[in-house]
Amino acid sequence: MPETLNVAVAGYAFMGRIHTAGWAQAAKFFGTPARVTHVIGRNRKNTQAFADAFGIPNVLADWRDAVADPDIHVVDVCTPGDSHVDIAIGALEAGKHVLCEKPLANSVAGAERMVAAAEAASARGVRSMAGFSYRRTPALAYAKRLVDEGRIGEIRHIRAVYLQDWIADPEFPLVWRLDKDAAGSGALGDIGAHIIDLATFLTGQRLTGLTGITETFVKTRPKLAEQTGGLTARGSEERGEVTVDDAAVWVGRTDGGALATFEATRFAAGRKNAMRIELNGSKGSLAFDFERMNELEFLDFTEPAVESGFRRILVTEPEHPYVGAWWPAGHGLGYEHTFTHEVKDFTDAIVEGRAPEPSFADGLAVQKILAAIEDSRGDWVTL
Ligand SMILES: NC(=O)c1ccc[n+]([C@@H]2O[C@H](COP(=O)([O-])OP(=O)(O)OC[C@H]3O[C@@H](n4cnc5c(N)ncnc54)[C@H](O)[C@@H]3O)[C@@H](O)[C@H]2O)c1
Repeated sequence: MPETLNVAVAGYAFMGRIHTAGWAQAAKFFGTPARVTHVIGRNRKNTQAFADAFGIPNVLADWRDAVADPDIHVVDVCTPGDSHVDIAIGALEAGKHVLCEKPLANSVAGAERMVAAAEAASARGVRSMAGFSYRRTPALAYAKRLVDEGRIGEIRHIRAVYLQDWIADPEFPLVWRLDKDAAGSGALGDIGAHIIDLATFLTGQRLTGLTGITETFVKTRPKLAEQTGGLTARGSEERGEVTVDDAAVWVGRTDGGALATFEATRFAAGRKNAMRIELNGSKGSLAFDFERMNELEFLDFTEPAVESGFRRILVTEPEHPYVGAWWPAGHGLGYEHTFTHEVKDFTDAIVEGRAPEPSFADGLAVQKILAAIEDSRGDWVTL
């Protein structure tokens, strides 16, 4: 085990930037023994510019170069879903620990291959983790603690939505997220995957069956001229077909006896990143909205009705998960901190020789649910 793990980040755009920042912050705030030494990108000029801005000493043109380099210990996959299977399996087989962005793959078959490679690698002490970053939001990690302590009792309802509006304009161009070959699915796999994983993480329950429907409201869009930012782009004069869903809704039953309802859409005008989840149990309720990510609502149903009500917990106390490493109470954390916590937890697991969570198998479980929702078309699917 080297003193410091050398990390190669594949991709340098939205997730590549935030993961790279996360690795640097984890080292500074948590003492995480890892540093980004390589960035992998296909456009030499842009990759070098990113490396210069983020202080990364080495630039690689192809992920295979990272896999072949014995000085690289971790490969962090921040590319679209169509490359996850090849990069992750290649890296695991070469003995690199792998953190892979969600959704794990673009198909169940791809995710199954990744799980097989992860399990074989695990026998050699090589670790892998799926990038469901919202698990590392302090308020959600704290919500899980309350659920595990039995504070909301037996869970009756899981109600999760993930609402965005960045493609609600029908003239927004065809970025890779609207192309099935690159992304696997649309709102479903991109943001629906997060609420499926979170529901399982928070409650410890899995869906046993579901019915779902999807819709593509805007069937053709301008072809892409230039991607200008994380979720921004410029279109050309030519038009092309949208090959993924714009929105998905599904309901299901869990193995813990709860009813679960979900909605994922990129057409909720005014909602930017409203990832909301509410749990109703026999002893209380919890509610969270990522647009107010430092807050958690908690209702204790065992209190006398005349004085009971939802309390707003500001999850910024040093005793709350992860928060002690940061700022004094009330000063708040942001989106990027969830990635710092993710790479910190991943590295802790590597150093301590245990399997990190969520595992690739957890990623596969999400992938199977995504496939079931697509197949359902309104019929009941038993999982
Ligand atoms: N955890 C989260 O909340 C979250 C948020 C956004 C995206 N994601 C996931 O992260 C992944 C990347 O999404 P993004 O938003 O960063 O996309 P992006 O378009 O911003 O960046 C993708 C990057 O990958 C590069 N790339 C593509 N194919 C490559 C290859 N074969 N080799 C090397 N580089 C390659 C592109 O050039 C680009 O730099 C996706 O799986 C996405 O679902 C997760």
